Amino acid sequence: MSKFYPLSVANVRQETRDTIVATFAVPPSLRERFAFTQGQHLTLRAQVNGQDLRRSYSICSAVQDGDLRVAIKRTPGGQFSTWANDTLKPGVSIEVMPPMGHFNLPLSAEHHKRYLGFAAGSGITPMLSIIKTTLQAEPKSSFSLVYGNRSSAAVIFREELAELKDVFGGRLNIVYVMSREQQDIDLFNGRITREKCDQLFQHWVRVADHDAAFVCGPEQMMHDVAAALQAHGMAKEAIKVELFAASIPKTRHEPHARPVVGRQDCEVTVIIDGSHRSFTMEKDKESVLDAGLKQGIDIRYSCKGGVCSTCRCKVVEGKLEMDANYALEDYEIARGFVLSCQAFPVTDRIVLDFDQDN
Ligand SMILES: Cc1cc2nc3c(=O)[nH]c(=O)nc-3n(C[C@H](O)[C@H](O)[C@H](O)COP(=O)(O)OP(=O)(O)OC[C@H]3O[C@@H](n4cnc5c(N)ncnc54)[C@H](O)[C@@H]3O)c2cc1C
Ligand code: FES
Repeated sequence: MSKFYPLSVANVRQETRDTIVATFAVPPSLRERFAFTQGQHLTLRAQVNGQDLRRSYSICSAVQDGDLRVAIKRTPGGQFSTWANDTLKPGVSIEVMPPMGHFNLPLSAEHHKRYLGFAAGSGITPMLSIIKTTLQAEPKSSFSLVYGNRSSAAVIFREELAELKDVFGGRLNIVYVMSREQQDIDLFNGRITREKCDQLFQHWVRVADHDAAFVCGPEQMMHDVAAALQAHGMAKEAIKVELFAASIPKTRHEPHARPVVGRQDCEVTVIIDGSHRSFTMEKDKESVLDAGLKQGIDIRYSCKGGVCSTCRCKVVEGKLEMDANYALEDYEIARGFVLSCQAFPVTDRIVLDFDQDN
């Protein structure tokens, strides 16, 4: 699970002026390893200007497509996305970690559900995978998408979404909200804010008629949409969110204000790919991930900012506290999962299992 595999790029398409869509060639020996669920993401790794960089990119293809595809939007001044847009060409090989993430809901052909989706900018990538996969797997379900962009020229997957509308007819509704391009209907001008959601829920879509919602975009939009959905009656558990932080929020670890009971150091055991490795670390100095990496243990990670959940593991013994968490849902925390890049030991001994998924 924690390993990277070299995959070669089979195809690159210029989707918009600043976004490429890259398809990877997955050899038969790796097909099972790179099988994915809609809404999951890949961690890509490359040496960029002498630095070993890792970044997460959501898979934008449908499970039924049989393709492994990502869309990478060039972030102004962004190291990895600039490199990827300039360098990825057919035949180029890049290190890729198998798909991860829990931005999805179980599907069934028997379902008769109505889903809502909210995406801003490149936040459309996992949404496209979710919409395409869901509408094919659930012939009686429907999807309504609110998609925020600056202008039509910036819309990623505009053509593909139009084609999906042709294929799925009334089962797919799309509303484009544009912040820098005036549209005829005033309701669809502006940004996806709390106020905009309240208006949309009053005039365009009834939240009460929907079973679940997916939200993917920057932090403020995510909070605004989730708050509006809940205010209009949707249960928190029915709202799936994925933070798409181009810049990872930086948090500083605040050492425990209260005196920590027991010793200052902690004995840590990590279980990865079935093998156990143990080491000692100071409780408040660095995260378990950083301490483990210093010991030469190959723990999987990407953002180191509590966003991507690549470093997720299950606490088998002991207690830890997390600084930031933008990735784990309440039910995962209740089951004992933590983000190791944000986790600091509280007890004198902890055991973390990176192999458990549920
Ligand atoms: C789960 C997950 C899935 C993701 N999926 C996708 C995806 O499918 N497609 C995609 O394109 N991205 C996706 N991202 C974001 C992606 O991982 C990178 O964060 C993004 O490409 C920027 O990386 P970078 O190395 O280019 O920028 P960095 O070098 O990390 O950032 C450079 C600097 O640019 C600044 N900066 C960042 N954003 C902006 C901006 N918009 N304007 C001005 N300055 C800025 C930052 O402050 C930072 O200091 C995803 C992120 C997560 C966590
Ligand atoms: S490495 Fe991204 S959440 Fe820990």
